[in-house]
Amino acid sequence: MSTGAVGRAHPRLEGREKVTGTARYAVEYPVDGVTYGWAVPAAVVRGRITRVDTDEALASPGVLAVLHHGNAPRLAQGPERELWLLQEPAAHYRGQFVAVVVATSLEAAREGARLVRIDYDAGPHSTVLAADHPGLYKPEHVNPSYPTDTAEGDFDAGYAAAPVRVDVTYRTPAYHNNPMEPHATTAQWHDGRLVVHDSNQGPVAVQATLAELFELPQESVRVITEHVGGGFGSKGYTKAAVVLAALAARHVDRPVKLALTRQQLFGPIGYRTPTIQRVRLAADAHGRLTAICHDAISQTSTIREFAEQTAVYTRSMYAAPHRRTTHRLVRLDVPTPFWMRAPGECPGAYALESAMDELAIAVGVDPVELRIRNDAQVDPDQGEPFTSRNLVACLREGAQRFGWTGRDPTPRARRDGRWLIGTGVAGSSYPARARPSSAAATARPDGTFLVRIDATDIGTGARTALWQVAADALGVPPERVEIRIGDSDLPVAPLAGGSMGTASWSWAVIRACEALRGKLREGASPDTEVSAEADTTDEVGGQPTRPRYAYGAQFVEVRVDADTGEVRVNRLLGVFAAGRVVNPTTARSQLIGGMTMGLSMALHEEGLLDERYGDWVNHDLATYHITGCADVEAVEAYWLDERDDELNPAGVKGIGEIGIVGTAAAVASAVHHATGVRIRDLPIRLDKLIGVSGLA
Ligand code: MOS
Repeated sequence: MSTGAVGRAHPRLEGREKVTGTARYAVEYPVDGVTYGWAVPAAVVRGRITRVDTDEALASPGVLAVLHHGNAPRLAQGPERELWLLQEPAAHYRGQFVAVVVATSLEAAREGARLVRIDYDAGPHSTVLAADHPGLYKPEHVNPSYPTDTAEGDFDAGYAAAPVRVDVTYRTPAYHNNPMEPHATTAQWHDGRLVVHDSNQGPVAVQATLAELFELPQESVRVITEHVGGGFGSKGYTKAAVVLAALAARHVDRPVKLALTRQQLFGPIGYRTPTIQRVRLAADAHGRLTAICHDAISQTSTIREFAEQTAVYTRSMYAAPHRRTTHRLVRLDVPTPFWMRAPGECPGAYALESAMDELAIAVGVDPVELRIRNDAQVDPDQGEPFTSRNLVACLREGAQRFGWTGRDPTPRARRDGRWLIGTGVAGSSYPARARPSSAAATARPDGTFLVRIDATDIGTGARTALWQVAADALGVPPERVEIRIGDSDLPVAPLAGGSMGTASWSWAVIRACEALRGKLREGASPDTEVSAEADTTDEVGGQPTRPRYAYGAQFVEVRVDADTGEVRVNRLLGVFAAGRVVNPTTARSQLIGGMTMGLSMALHEEGLLDERYGDWVNHDLATYHITGCADVEAVEAYWLDERDDELNPAGVKGIGEIGIVGTAAAVASAVHHATGVRIRDLPIRLDKLIGVSGLA
């Protein structure tokens, strides 16, 4: 018996705590005898540390210790070289952490860090991604485990034979994740056991990595992650802050709080790789695609290979008999790029969906209609039907809500005073995955229930969604259910990432609740607590793997100042097909959040590299521009009532990433429609618009 909790709008369970400031984040727990760590970044791009002079720092009031490669506790050299911190006298990129100062106050630690003197032997470096970089190579696979290249049919022949062709190259810059809460940790050692309050997207992985690095049994490490102020992928894996805090706490034998500064988020935590993407599309005279090729180039560091799956989006989005995708990578003397909301899909869709707009113009077909004509109900990549694919329905409903019909495709056709008005559209897709999880459910004598799972709520509303799912699975009003998440002592669960948290966790929660109800039906008496656990490893692993994706369509209206090139967005509207929506309030927030981030990518965000120093010049929120309310007047998200029973017991597809996917392409196409200028290297800055077109 469902109580109808799923599908009902509900504010976040912890909303009151968050707005009143009582929700505790990683470095906000009161801890007796706590000390403060401050990370010291390398000042050269590539080099060897020849001397660390800590005298002045150690003489500074309150400073307890300066850890560096010469004195830090030893770590096992695990598979992640990047986390083997303070173990060797080497700097692999500028900004890599090479020392930590520990002091009795945050201010003293900061001052101590200023006083540490480090000398280096610096070598030559290469930090700029280029299409002709001599170091380009073909990685063995791309994130997380996709084939590097794919080919079907004969692209070259198909392309050469087609009457309509588009051959365009797009560039995207480095993008930096900036969660409100930085990467932050409170680390404590108690009798050889390490306890960390850490800001991350999955305590299980952090627990495993710390156990490996510090050579501890897994059960000797506890990771508590109750509230997280955003992650976007940057906290999807163990990062430097938690390792440094644990090292420091062990060294000074006191608890240590360590939070990265805003500036330090521009570097060692990972960023979205810059890309250079060549897209070639060929079509018949009706706009039906005959050949598609997407060649993507991106970068990684010298100490870890992160190969972003930029062109993977193109493999399954639109059909054509001749298709090819490739990825090439170059190792540069830079921080390792990492996940950022829809890694691969987002920059890849910017290129492909922009190219589709260019094709629509070349062939003279409306861009909504062009996408409908090239829809595929069978996955072009896997050759199997999608479990459900409602891209066309999203495009149609979006077009209707937006008022797309009757659009004059001529660029610069609409003007309102000095504003040039234009509209643009893009399709979107994102994989609907799930991973094995476990969960436990307990019936208490007072008629309430406790559901426990090591899920992570990084601000998405995951805690609330699981609570709703659990209530329906138990068949009781949600008020009688308590949900506990965010602690590695709870049943093992996968990370909040890849838009698969809710799908994975709810699967285990539902199974645990079902098992508990079974026990109660069979007469287990709740005079005392009755508990049941579930583990979905076999069920998820044994699932048939028909291709499954969420879909969406974004529509944008922009106005561009004909004199200054300023871009303002009148309206940003998305329609999504993402399976069942558990909580409309938090779902809407995810979708408009993703779209807002895509708008930010289109118009503002850009890591500007200074080649001489191998570092980004803009590394704070004053100089790294992000979108603000003044950029856009309306952001609207809608979704279809989509039922797909093949996905998972909750019927969800995931909504964390689909919102960002096509948004930048829709904005860029709208700017083209308004001005006649196609900007193929993001962001769309006014100087580029003026420079190219002489708009004024
Ligand atoms: Mo998301 S970039 O998979 O955390």
